Amino acid sequence: MNNYNIEDILKEISQNFKNFTTEIENIESMESLYVLKTKYLGSKSFIINVLSNIKNLPNDLKPVVGKEANIVKKQIEQKINDKEKYFKSLQFEQELLKERIDLTLPGTKLNIGRKHIISQVIEEIEEIFIGMGFNIAEGPEVETEYYNFEALNTPEDHPARSLHDTFFISENILLRTQTSPVQIRYMEKNKPPIYIISPGKVYRRDYDISHIPMFTQIEGLVVDYGINFRNLKWILEKFVHEIFGKERKVRFRPHYFPFTEPSAEVDVSCNICNGKGCRTCGGSGWLEILGAGMVDPNLYKYVGYNADEISGFAFGMGIERICMLKFGINDIRLFYENDLRFINQF
Ligand code: DAH
Repeated sequence: MNNYNIEDILKEISQNFKNFTTEIENIESMESLYVLKTKYLGSKSFIINVLSNIKNLPNDLKPVVGKEANIVKKQIEQKINDKEKYFKSLQFEQELLKERIDLTLPGTKLNIGRKHIISQVIEEIEEIFIGMGFNIAEGPEVETEYYNFEALNTPEDHPARSLHDTFFISENILLRTQTSPVQIRYMEKNKPPIYIISPGKVYRRDYDISHIPMFTQIEGLVVDYGINFRNLKWILEKFVHEIFGKERKVRFRPHYFPFTEPSAEVDVSCNICNGKGCRTCGGSGWLEILGAGMVDPNLYKYVGYNADEISGFAFGMGIERICMLKFGINDIRLFYENDLRFINQF
């Protein structure tokens, strides 16, 4: 016990602290700071050793050594903490530098999608008819033979059925070949007055420059009291003038459809030759745009209407064809090849 010399102990403590201060000055990384921390504050470090040996000191030395060792220990801790903070802030600054955004760099181009030309034209046509008081109706693309043919006055042995190259799903279920079944579905659920158009996809087994297996039609149906052919003419002329321009002439040509009587095909004067006749219109001066007619009273039997009280007209058009004529496109297949050079023109 007697060999303890307080002077020596205190000297040693202060020497240890001096060593520490010179060493920490030269520390340049967090890793070496941690090594230093273990060296000066770890369980085998000098100062911890002094502190745990205090119990063995003579009583009068205990408070002096204890006080001094604790002061030094605190200072070491303080300096290590300060250094640690300093390294952390350095690290943070470096991360900020790495993540810095250069606002002067040019942006990356985003390809924003746009509405397909067919959708655009459907919307344009919808707006024209909504403006005349029509509503929009919808029907299923997977249909029954009943709605697609039978209730449209086209019984099984009817020659018009073979004009449609139908995709059958099962015996009586098919992909609708026209939007006309919506006429029946709508009349079943609603009473006149009816003023609707119904856009949608239709399907036929066809593929060439003017036919594709899936295309788009818009059906129109008006049923009300006292509706006549002049009303049909007025509405369709108005439509043609809105979609193609006021200068275009409209012609009704007698035709046949199973569900209208009388029926007509509607032509618009050729915009290339102004009606004189050219290659686009096949020399006739006219371009066919849609089918129409007075609703055949026979249809009313299927939906429980009294044909003596009401009358109506219907029309149907292919949207791709309207687009082709409107924009001078000569191959219907272009609409669905997804070639952006084509699609982005509209
Ligand atoms: N559904 C007919 C077709 O696809 C087009 C049509 C013609 C619809 C006359 C009609 C109409 O509503 O009255 O060829």
